[in-house]
Amino acid sequence: MVETALSVKDIHKSFGGVEVLKGISFEARKGDVISLIGSSGSGKSTLLRCINYLETPDRGEISVAGEVIKTSPSQGGKMHATDPRQLEHIRTRLGMVFQGFNLWSHRTILENIIEGPIHVLGVSRKEAIAEAETLMEKVGITAKRDQYPMQLSGGQQQRAAIARALAMKPEVMLFDEPTSALDPELVNEVLQVIKKLAEEGRTMVMVTHEMALARDISSEVIFLHKGLVEERGAPGNVMKDPQSARLRQFLQLA
Ligand SMILES: Nc1ncnc2c1ncn2[C@@H]1O[C@H](COP(=O)(O)OP(=O)(O)OP(=O)(O)O)[C@@H](O)[C@H]1O
Ligand SMILES: [Mg+2]
Repeated sequence: MVETALSVKDIHKSFGGVEVLKGISFEARKGDVISLIGSSGSGKSTLLRCINYLETPDRGEISVAGEVIKTSPSQGGKMHATDPRQLEHIRTRLGMVFQGFNLWSHRTILENIIEGPIHVLGVSRKEAIAEAETLMEKVGITAKRDQYPMQLSGGQQQRAAIARALAMKPEVMLFDEPTSALDPELVNEVLQVIKKLAEEGRTMVMVTHEMALARDISSEVIFLHKGLVEERGAPGNVMKDPQSARLRQFLQLA
């Protein structure tokens, strides 16, 4: 039996009385690539942020490698994580690459990448640097090694963020439109990196509007519409023969 890397159960989230997520569930087994697609405002980023509790879901359950994030029982009031240490630990197992995810501005790119491995994973500085060099090469930012984030373009910062997340050897990588900040000529380079990660068997959940990427590497594509799963399945079905009219329209526009 293939191990479950991530389980998302019945996630609900409201902002100011508006329910943005209305009960979303999915599972990623080890090596799965789950692509979340949908139009702007459909709740994709909110769902990713709920997975690592950057947003606390109002209801539902998240577990990573079988470990459920501990929460207070929801007794009318809002649910919240009750074990900060556990949450911190689980977050180290989720590599986050989000829209506009900030690097540490007062540290160089290399320092950004080695910080977690050294201080959280206890890797030696030498080993962390060697791994960081491989990762910087992979995402094409080797030349930026000793520069500070503000000296990099948004696209370069995004690629540094990918390297930093990978350096933690996470159980699951969470991507929120990883190529959206990149110049067109750099997009393909990053897509190749993501494809390679998929081929290496890395478990990933990604919000993407790169439909070709979603088609090529996904185990499952989930189409969100107004906070609900409108359609889901293997990319060969969902993207080639969509059943939902909304999804058909979305794919034409995408
Ligand atoms: N912190 C917040 N406070 C209030 N409303 C929010 C917050 N975060 C998201 N929303 C609202 O929730 C809805 C879903 O937003 P979300 O960012 O999840 O959409 P998305 O699918 O990622 O869109 P996009 O494709 O544009 O990134 C939007 O209406 C948004 O305005
Ligand atoms: Mg978004």
